[in-house]
Amino acid sequence: MKKKWLFAAAAVLSLSLAGCGSNSTKTATDKNTDQNTDQNKKVLVMGTSADFAPFEYIDPTKSNEIIGFDVDLAKAVTQKMGYQLKVQDMEFNSLIPAVQANKIDFSMAGITPNKKRAEVVDFTDSYYDTHDYLITKKDFNFKKLDDLKGKKIGAQVSSIEEDTAKAISGKVSGVSVETRDRVPELIQEVKLGRLDAIVLEDIVAENYVKQNKDLKYSKIEGVENQKKAAAFPKGSKLVKEYNKAVKELKDSGEIDKMKAKWFKVK
Ligand code: ARG
Repeated sequence: MKKKWLFAAAAVLSLSLAGCGSNSTKTATDKNTDQNTDQNKKVLVMGTSADFAPFEYIDPTKSNEIIGFDVDLAKAVTQKMGYQLKVQDMEFNSLIPAVQANKIDFSMAGITPNKKRAEVVDFTDSYYDTHDYLITKKDFNFKKLDDLKGKKIGAQVSSIEEDTAKAISGKVSGVSVETRDRVPELIQEVKLGRLDAIVLEDIVAENYVKQNKDLKYSKIEGVENQKKAAAFPKGSKLVKEYNKAVKELKDSGEIDKMKAKWFKVK
């Protein structure tokens, strides 16, 4: 059942990925030619990486649609801003470059703003906070970082977790780091014993563990909190409008409702 979920998700993901190269990308680019005469621009294309429940994912038992907290928030915000939202799935690794190149209008994917990324995109105010967990097989006895001596740690390519994994390898001897494009691939590698551990954000890790009873998650000492924000092209006037809309949604209690819906404590 859970395996089916992962494979189905992976299949849908690669399908939508294959499909997005020409069509939707072109739509966004075309639209962006009238970016500065924003008035008649009715659709905003949001890029995301739908492998990150509860932020963005596909539940094939329900539909092929991308759902999650980020999607609900983006819908509400863009509606307030007077736009329609179109969601496009891509690999996490391509999101910031796609925003930078105006191939998509913005991205929400549980993205953590940092200095390096902020050099190439503009971030909105932060809308959530998480920190990193470690996923291992259930029988892996993880108490402290040193228990990872000589182990293989995985993370999503170009994610903050890749940096976290590398930081661990700098501290603990014999740790090697491997990356994969999509989170379900990382989960499979741990299940198959090809990776000993992966670094993943708390609530996302809890979700994957819930689906995979042979895995567990553990807290990692000394990691920083991770904020979440939407990324827009540098200089975009939409950032201000976006922040304003989020603030209104916060004040009206809408965001709390979305959080209660998606970030459920089990
Ligand atoms: N917060 C992390 C980062 O910004 C990971 C986000 C991964 N998101 C995803 N949809 N897979 O690097």
